[in-house]
Amino acid sequence: MTLNALICGASQGIGLALCEQLLARDDVARVWAVSRQARGSQALAALAAAHGERLVRIDCDARNEQALEALASEVSRICTHLDLVISTLGILQRDGAKAEKALAQLDLAGLQASFATNAFAPVLLLKHLLPLLRKQPCTFAALSARVGSIGDNRLGGWYSYRASKAALNQLLHTASIELKRLNPASTVLVLHPGTTDTQLSQPFQANVPAEQLFAPAFAAQCILEQIGRLGPADSGTFWAWDGQPITW
Ligand SMILES: NC(=O)c1ccc[n+]([C@@H]2O[C@H](COP(=O)([O-])OP(=O)(O)OC[C@H]3O[C@@H](n4cnc5c(N)ncnc54)[C@H](OP(=O)(O)O)[C@@H]3O)[C@@H](O)[C@H]2O)c1
Repeated sequence: MTLNALICGASQGIGLALCEQLLARDDVARVWAVSRQARGSQALAALAAAHGERLVRIDCDARNEQALEALASEVSRICTHLDLVISTLGILQRDGAKAEKALAQLDLAGLQASFATNAFAPVLLLKHLLPLLRKQPCTFAALSARVGSIGDNRLGGWYSYRASKAALNQLLHTASIELKRLNPASTVLVLHPGTTDTQLSQPFQANVPAEQLFAPAFAAQCILEQIGRLGPADSGTFWAWDGQPITW
C-alpha cells in the first residue's frame, strides 16, 4: 500500500464511489475525501468506520483559496506526495447555477456560480496542491462533461454549464503544459463520466434510456480505468468514460 489519493467533491455521487473503490484497493494507502460537507456525509462516515485512518475527511469549499491553502497544509502534514488527485467538483442547478434553455434565462449571478465551481475551483485546487505533485509520477484528473465540448455542441442550451466546462478544459490543458515542465512524469486529464444517476443529473433523467444512465459505481470504475490507461504522453487531453477521445 503506497499510493495517496485525494478526491475533491467526495461527499456524494461519483466522488463518493471513487473513494469507495480506491479504499478497496490494496495499492492505496490513504484517501483524502474533500468537500464542503465531507464530515457531515453519512456515507463517508460509514467508509471512515470501515477503513479507519486510511480515509481522511476534510471540509473545504474549493471556491475559497484560504480553505484550499489550509487543505494543502493539512495534507502535507501527513504526506509529501499525492499520486492521484481527482476533482469531481461540479454543479448544474445548485448554489445559484442554472441549466438555462434560452438566452433570456441567463444572468450574471448564475454564470458566475457555474464558473466558480466548475472551472475556477478545480484549477485553484491544482494550484494549491502543486507542491504535492512535483516529484514523482502523479495524475490530476478533473471530471468535465461532453457538453463542454464546443465541437460536439449541436443541441445548445445549458449555457453556463457548457461554457464553464469548456473553460475548465482550457484551464487544465494549459496547466498540463506547465506541469510537463515542472514534472515530466505528471498526467493531467479531463474526463467525461457519462450520464450518471446522481443528485446533479436527477432532474434531467426522464428522457435518458435506462441503459445509458450509469450507476455511480460504474462511472467511477470507468474513470479509474481511464486513469490507469493514460499516462504522461496523454497529458492535457479530454476522454470519455469508454476510452474514446472527445473533441475540444
Ligand atoms: N452525473 C452526471 O450525469 C454527469 C455527467 C457529466 C459530467 N458530470 C460531472 O461529474 C462530476 C461529478 O458529478 P456528480 O453527478 O457526482 O455530482 P454530485 O452528486 O452533485 O456531487 C458533486 C460533489 O461536489 C461537491 N462540491 C460541490 N461544490 C463544491 C465546492 N465548492 N467545494 C467542495 N466540494 C464541492 C459536493 O459536495 P458538498 O455539497 O459536500 O460540497 C459533491 O460531493 C461533476 O463535475 C459533473 O459536472 C456528471
